[in-house]
Amino acid sequence: MSEAAFKVNLKPETVKAVDELIGRYPVAEAALIPALHKVQDDLGWMPAAAMDWVADKLGLPRVRVYGVTSYYTMFRRKKPGRHCLEICTNLSCSLMGAEHLRDYLCEKLGIKAGETTGDGRITLEEVECLGSCGTAPVMIVDDEYHENLTPKKVDAILSDLELRDKGSADG
Ligand code: FES
Repeated sequence: MSEAAFKVNLKPETVKAVDELIGRYPVAEAALIPALHKVQDDLGWMPAAAMDWVADKLGLPRVRVYGVTSYYTMFRRKKPGRHCLEICTNLSCSLMGAEHLRDYLCEKLGIKAGETTGDGRITLEEVECLGSCGTAPVMIVDDEYHENLTPKKVDAILSDLELRDKGSADG
């Protein structure tokens, strides 16, 4: 696919950042993961057209890019909901009841981990250690850490998201 046919609109600064990465590394392959991060930061996820674009930009086989994005869970190959809930279920969080909270969230949202609610509002992801084991269990909600989680705090988070969405719909 040529750049002209690229259907996903990247910001000019993203394209520039990817060009800079290509110039910085002696081998294009080394720029692959940082380039994918730039693109995902821009789009919020990694649609197939974006992966094709990165592959073509770096002169790599598309299958190589697809392999990397499917191996690393930080790359979102499905369009996320408006809000992303990333709950850690690694050891420290697990010992503090993270699985119970994950199940609680699944029940409240009516989805499984890795899915998005039918209205496209919320995506729930189960993730590896978030580097905040001392305040387990931990969840990131739209890039903001929530620590020492309890079902009550989860309820408050969900109500807050609802209010925010209602506010943006009203306003
Ligand atoms: S194990 Fe959950 S933040 Fe480290």
